[in-house]
Amino acid sequence: MKSLPDALLKTNLSLPLVYRGKVRDTYELSPNELLMVATDRISAFDFSLPCGVPGKGEVVSRLSAFWFSATSHIIPNHLIRLVDHDHSFPEYIWRRSMVVRKAKRIPVECIVRGYLFGSALLEYQRSGKAGGVSLPEGLVKGQKLPVPIFTPTTKEEKHDRPLEVEELVEMVGNEVALVLEEKSVELYLFAAGEVRRQGITLADTKFEFGYDGEHEIMLIDELLTPDSSRFWVGEGYGGRSLDKQPFRDFLSSLGWEGGTPPPFIPQEVIQETSRRYQEAYQKLCGGKNGSY
Ligand SMILES: Nc1ncnc2c1ncn2[C@@H]1O[C@H](COP(=O)(O)OP(=O)(O)OP(=O)(O)O)[C@@H](O)[C@H]1O
Ligand SMILES: [Mg+2]
Repeated sequence: MKSLPDALLKTNLSLPLVYRGKVRDTYELSPNELLMVATDRISAFDFSLPCGVPGKGEVVSRLSAFWFSATSHIIPNHLIRLVDHDHSFPEYIWRRSMVVRKAKRIPVECIVRGYLFGSALLEYQRSGKAGGVSLPEGLVKGQKLPVPIFTPTTKEEKHDRPLEVEELVEMVGNEVALVLEEKSVELYLFAAGEVRRQGITLADTKFEFGYDGEHEIMLIDELLTPDSSRFWVGEGYGGRSLDKQPFRDFLSSLGWEGGTPPPFIPQEVIQETSRRYQEAYQKLCGGKNGSY
């Protein structure tokens, strides 16, 4: 087997570190600007795993930059630029880092689902609802929903919790709650239409929003990447998914769903996952524009 390049698991820049998340190392560049470096770290079932997926950070940063540009007519976003060939930073962070506007984060994961899968499927099987939204009877795993649904959750240290509409309104106010829902659904529909032309289905995705210095709402974090979205090859459910599914499948096959120290991950699983991220990049924005 061809051996993979090393994965980047951690960065140590001589800048103030603001936050080391499950995937990104975020540094402060100035009072209004952050440097977000996507490492190759991978998480599953909300746990960070001790290995990385080579090239993953570059894929998620370049895809995010691509989508921020493609969706700026829908809503402003935090991206100032993707770092590349910039000698003020070490070369190992090029193409995997974004300079962004610092935001006051809205602590909500704005999830939109076009298909019944994952936690929404489990909830539907229990209650006939997904994210509190009543759905028609008789839907099956992977089925397209009549219309995309907005199923926001909290952002918690460990497991995120579904947010009822009333709770969301209480957190951010009526007006902002409506903007989050409308913009999330609009972004989903736009992206789903774009990827359909590449032969891909956008099953679901997650957005994050924040306020800029003028208290205007903007899109932040990452956008329409395999870490924040489910992309399926082909129309509808059934084909390969372009994300960390090989990881999840391997861990599930061992019965590991977090909690205890993660098991050893074989090289084959890492390699297959790396290949899926590369495929996602190629299929979604490869060759469209040299700047991504
Ligand atoms: N423009 C921004 N201003 C401030 N914070 C941001 C901005 N964009 C993204 N973030 C935050 O930076 C972090 C990105 O790191 P990463 O994705 O690794 O975190 P994470 O492990 O997903 O953490 P969390 O559970 O907090 O989302 C997220 O917490 C995200 O909410
Ligand atoms: Mg994140």
